[in-house]
Amino acid sequence: MPTIQHILETMDYGPAPESTKEAQAWLDARGRRFGLFIDGAFTAAADTFATRNPADGSDLAEVTQASAADVDRAVQAARRAQPGWEALGGFGRAKVLYALARLLQKHARLFAVLETLDNGKTIRETRDADLPLAARHFYHHAGWAQLQAEEFAGYRAVGVVGQIVPWNFPLLMLAWKIAPALAAGNTVVFKPAEFTPLTSLLFAEICQQAGVPAGVVNIVTGDGRTGEAIVNHPGVDKLAFTGSTEVGRLIRKATAGTGKKLSLELGGKSPFIVFDDADIDAAVEGLVDSIWFNQGQVCCAGSRLLVQESVYPRVMAKVKARMQKLRVGSPLDKSNDIGALVDPVQQQRIHGLVEGARAEGCEVWQPMGETPAAGAWYLPTLITGASTTAAVAQAEIFGPVLVAMSFRTPGEAVQLANNTVYGLAACVWTESISLALDIAPQIRAGVVWINTANQFDAACGFGGVKESGFGREGGREGMFEYLVSLAEDARPAAPVAVAVRAAVRERDDNPFAIDRTAKLYIGGKQARPDGAYSRAIVGPDGGFLADVGEGNRKDIRNAVEAAHKASGWARATAHNRAQVLYYIAENLAARADEFAARIAAQTGALEPHAEVGAAIERLFYWAAWADKYDGLAHQPPMHGITVALHEPVGVIGIVCPNEHPLLGFVSLVAPALALGNRVVAVPSEAHPLSSLDLYQVLDTSDLPGGALNIVTGSADELARTLASHFEVDAVWRHDGSGEGCAEVERLAAESLKRTWTGGARGRDWFDPRQACGRAVLQHASQVKNVWIPYGV
Ligand code: NAI
Repeated sequence: MPTIQHILETMDYGPAPESTKEAQAWLDARGRRFGLFIDGAFTAAADTFATRNPADGSDLAEVTQASAADVDRAVQAARRAQPGWEALGGFGRAKVLYALARLLQKHARLFAVLETLDNGKTIRETRDADLPLAARHFYHHAGWAQLQAEEFAGYRAVGVVGQIVPWNFPLLMLAWKIAPALAAGNTVVFKPAEFTPLTSLLFAEICQQAGVPAGVVNIVTGDGRTGEAIVNHPGVDKLAFTGSTEVGRLIRKATAGTGKKLSLELGGKSPFIVFDDADIDAAVEGLVDSIWFNQGQVCCAGSRLLVQESVYPRVMAKVKARMQKLRVGSPLDKSNDIGALVDPVQQQRIHGLVEGARAEGCEVWQPMGETPAAGAWYLPTLITGASTTAAVAQAEIFGPVLVAMSFRTPGEAVQLANNTVYGLAACVWTESISLALDIAPQIRAGVVWINTANQFDAACGFGGVKESGFGREGGREGMFEYLVSLAEDARPAAPVAVAVRAAVRERDDNPFAIDRTAKLYIGGKQARPDGAYSRAIVGPDGGFLADVGEGNRKDIRNAVEAAHKASGWARATAHNRAQVLYYIAENLAARADEFAARIAAQTGALEPHAEVGAAIERLFYWAAWADKYDGLAHQPPMHGITVALHEPVGVIGIVCPNEHPLLGFVSLVAPALALGNRVVAVPSEAHPLSSLDLYQVLDTSDLPGGALNIVTGSADELARTLASHFEVDAVWRHDGSGEGCAEVERLAAESLKRTWTGGARGRDWFDPRQACGRAVLQHASQVKNVWIPYGV
């Protein structure tokens, strides 16, 4: 007689196909041809291309390739509609967003089937993940619209937003983009991916039913050319992009210097770390959700399995056994786990990477089984024996391919986890809460899931660091991406003072120059400039004041290295950081007269004491914030909490304003230090002496060496080096050089570092509304959401 165990092991599911009748009828009723959704109505289809069902290769419909002229019409419509939409007020917008959420739920089945047909992902996922999450996003943001006036007082909508999404979560990405934009009072021009346009066209119809005013939501279909037209349109105030790092980089470059706000959610190569005390069975189930969800075509897929050595053989055996049970087949079958890839091109890409690994000597393992003959498929795949630098260990494969490695110690796990250009997400599996919460902050990623994987919620921001991009979607932090502080509008058109390019004198000109030259400040010590050049600083009447070092690339490299070594500053307690800032203020106050005299000598300011006083107050201000910019504890719909930590960005390069050389310097450097960043500061090019006078203040204020480094010289040259440096995490430039700021943004595209630039406009550094507040704190920090489920 067969045992229960035997019966369970040999039992299989019968076919359980979901009907496509309603979706096919919807397509038929529209003649399987779609135009664009502009200004509340559909245009006639033109210049069409086919969208296919990747599970069998059949054509589903023809959609329009939107031209630059179409995009222009959509932007014009959005522009016309924007003031009215914002003026509708929180309640007015909330009602519309709520209606959208209700309609998404009402038509959930049609949406889910259409998504599965167009994308190839399983109906189980579209039905149980994509649709509920998309609806939740609209509900949640109906709430933000309602609370906007109260919770985001002092902010306005950005304006017209261009939004471009990929094909892996077509409707969910639409919800992540459109819901917050609309809640904040923006209007949108949205482009779905060329492979998966159908659910966004169905959404356009839902907009008509929900009473979205004409022009508030515009949907243009097409490929990268349409995307480019959106990116380059001067009428677009902000771009929100999800997709490949390569295109993200292009968009960063294209928008440099335009003043367009930008958020980028790009690729990932996320680690899935299993410690030896983990609940191994739960971890293996989590791994299935992490790497085989949506065929691995997920930006935050746990594609690198890192297992503690002692349990490595056991984990690998269980992973293989579980892989053997994954059901690959028709995505419309409710009992299938793995559906089709989005397109044969993706299949070829994955195949190329896997075969490359095989050729390099890696072991490639796949479960027994066959994939359907037609369509785009790939069996779940496990790769072992790859070196940490192998392409499969570094590149985003975007397929059902897992690369496994072992580690010995928690320290090694962190090192391996961070050994990637990406920083989107990570999973940590251990039964030790102490270990988990020790590891989570050490991983450079925007999201960390502890003993869970691929959890998302509208209340919890999602987004990455490093080459995974910047900005967050969801939560309070996601709303700020679609808002502008009113204080920005109040900024003066130009800086009060402009840079005076002082003459550069070679050392040989004057054999004593170096001895008289104010040095750089690197690693807590005064350092001679590498090039042994100096520049003369003159007063307002052109009279010589002093020589300062002419910093070069090497000096910046040394300063960045020193900043990295000072990582203890990021780990110092917030109380401790506040104390140091108070101490700097105290020591500055003791020498107020001397600093005032120096300011007057450089700028000719008639009331230099006012600037010193404001600088001291500013230090107090940021010291006050140091231990108060706490994170949040979210309660997403799971048994557990999500802790939103405000982490420092890392090493920030800061090019300081020319006007108010002391106040400008302090206003930028102090908030960065307050939140635990390390800084390489380039003081006012014209009036750097006030910053250099600070060396002794810093030396006597307990600031650890390397936390703040100061390099004088040409703002353009030093900014260029900082923006190109791969170990600098962000660059701020506020010296009023429009072209210089544009260049920083362009160069920052290579490493996708964050930037905060003031452009050609000025800023009143005395005005706390322009120089203080949450907007500055947000530039100085990044949110990491740590998901902590508990109980069973
Ligand atoms: P992609 O980045 O080219 O496409 C994403 C979106 O950007 C699409 O709507 C596309 O039409 C648009 N686009 C393409 N070129 C553009 C341009 N120059 N300007 C503006 N918009 C443009 O990604 P693709 O080609 O679909 O996938 C290639 C690889 O990228 C994948 O295999 C995967 O590795 C990665 N990827 C990562 C995603 C993520 O969520 N992290 C999403 C999609 C792809």
